Amino acid sequence: MLTSRIVGTGSYVPEQIVTNDDLAKIVDTNDEWIRTRTGIRQRRLVTEEGTSQMAAKAAKRALEQSGVKPEEIELIILGTSSQDYCFPSGACEVQAMIGAVNAVCYDLSAACTGFVYALNTAHAFIKAGIYRTALIIGSDVLSKLIDWSDRGTCVLFGDGAGAAVVKADETGILGMRMYSDGTKGDVLICGARTNGNFLLGKKPELGYMTMNGQEVFKFAVKKVPEVIRQVLEDTGTPMEEIRYFVLHQANYRIIESVAKRLKVDMEKFPANMEYYGNTSGASIPILLDEMNRAGKLNPGDKIILSGFGGGLTWGATLIQW
Ligand code: ACO
Repeated sequence: MLTSRIVGTGSYVPEQIVTNDDLAKIVDTNDEWIRTRTGIRQRRLVTEEGTSQMAAKAAKRALEQSGVKPEEIELIILGTSSQDYCFPSGACEVQAMIGAVNAVCYDLSAACTGFVYALNTAHAFIKAGIYRTALIIGSDVLSKLIDWSDRGTCVLFGDGAGAAVVKADETGILGMRMYSDGTKGDVLICGARTNGNFLLGKKPELGYMTMNGQEVFKFAVKKVPEVIRQVLEDTGTPMEEIRYFVLHQANYRIIESVAKRLKVDMEKFPANMEYYGNTSGASIPILLDEMNRAGKLNPGDKIILSGFGGGLTWGATLIQW
């Protein structure tokens, strides 16, 4: 069966660490509140870098590991909601930075589900026989979109990038599902920059991210188990066969709740938000890369990736490693 397989992973996080105690100096919060509500202890934040530079660094590491040359890449999809520019796309910038001269490149906007959407989209191209080799990246600098005086959001996020090289193969992605619900867009929203208006004499203003945390929580713990069950059902895969559930790293309590609803042991739900916070579209590929490099993924292992985020968007992919 023609499918697509991840043949290399890479990730990158900025050097600068910002702890919960550091944030307690700028907003009314404390380490204990943040840790117990979210599982986050620290995050990495950019100074000079942008989304595309981080993406290119993660991409280079994934390429190195895969042995695929930049010029062999036919498609680059960057899942991000914090592009450095409206245009050119971040994917085009990455193309230039890594020398992927033969690739068609575009960004995909699905917030924290960006990597899963991008991977599934590349998979569809590969399955259709249109491309054979793709580079999928999730990269976000949400620190640039956050209101740093809003304790309800600023404690949650971090910056980072993760990437995967995907090739046509006999085994790999076994199934996938994606969903969107645009009627709930206001639950998690980042104001537009395209809000200037000549005729109304209005200059464009930078909008910050706002979130209804409890609605996001309810959405995630309902929809993630649902979509995971669907992918398993689609492919006739028993839940017990899944070695790891690699979920978007928003919040440890969301992961615990998903595990409980699926009746699966937490041992199968790796987590690293403790160190990086919620890196949005980058969280799944960063975690996948860490697991891969730590030798935790063995050929044949069945792994679920599942993302959820603004849009609202959510989805899951079943992979045989
Ligand atoms: N430090 C201390 N107190 C805080 C902080 C903070 N950083 N933030 C909020 N509070 C206060 C609130 O003001 C409120 O105080 P009040 O009772 O005096 O009004 C109190 O804590 C409780 O606020 P809630 O919003 O009800 O807190 P909750 O227990 O729901 O936790 C949280 C908030 C962690 C955001 C939770 O709703 C959650 O986990 N939501 C999921 C959303 C999520 O993870 N989003 C990540 C981004 S979205 C994504 O990736 C898809």
